[in-house]
Amino acid sequence: MLNLGILVSGGGTNLQAIIDSIESGYLKDCSIAVVVSSRSGAFALERAKKHNIPSIVISRKAYESIEAYDDALIQCFESHGVGLVVMAGFLTMVGEKFIEKYRGRIMNIHPSLIPSFCGKGYYGIIPHQKALEYGVKITGATVHFVEPEYDSGPIILQKAVEVRDDDTPETLQKRVMEEAEWKILPQAIKLFSEGRLVLNGRKVTITD
Ligand code: GRF
Repeated sequence: MLNLGILVSGGGTNLQAIIDSIESGYLKDCSIAVVVSSRSGAFALERAKKHNIPSIVISRKAYESIEAYDDALIQCFESHGVGLVVMAGFLTMVGEKFIEKYRGRIMNIHPSLIPSFCGKGYYGIIPHQKALEYGVKITGATVHFVEPEYDSGPIILQKAVEVRDDDTPETLQKRVMEEAEWKILPQAIKLFSEGRLVLNGRKVTITD
């Protein structure tokens, strides 16, 4: 059984996609051991409670240093036997210590085709605003392994979504979530759980 530790900060629609993928049987031998939110008001916490998933708020501002914050996250995930950490709409930076501990076992979902519209300050609706401002014809979502720099780790999966002439940032965000994020995040978790992701430096290979 692969125990998942899910990091959230907001609405939790990606968490919901993972929950639904487990309950539908798409994600076999996976269980969400704990949901950790960086904020007490995150609706993602309501989703966890509704599905009887243990949840806890671990807020960065409650800790003196990034190392202390990392220690709190590590202690929580180790106590739940977490084998894969998934950042699902998580807006707080973790430190080197946390990344070292879970290197190759932390995934993040980003709402653009990295390396476009990513990096510090590109979160939530902003990547979609920037995509429309730039006038790109396709955007999408990326699942990647997490490294210390924002949105910089080896790419696992990407899925393209067309940009429509009448799109607003909100309509584009919704379509990217529905057509890309909620599909490739469970898919990446499934590949990891089946041992089919091979990481060589920056290159991720999917084996049969
Ligand atoms: C999503 O666009 C996700 O890609 C980004 O945060 C947004 C909210 O995600 N990381 P969620 O609804 O909280 O899963």
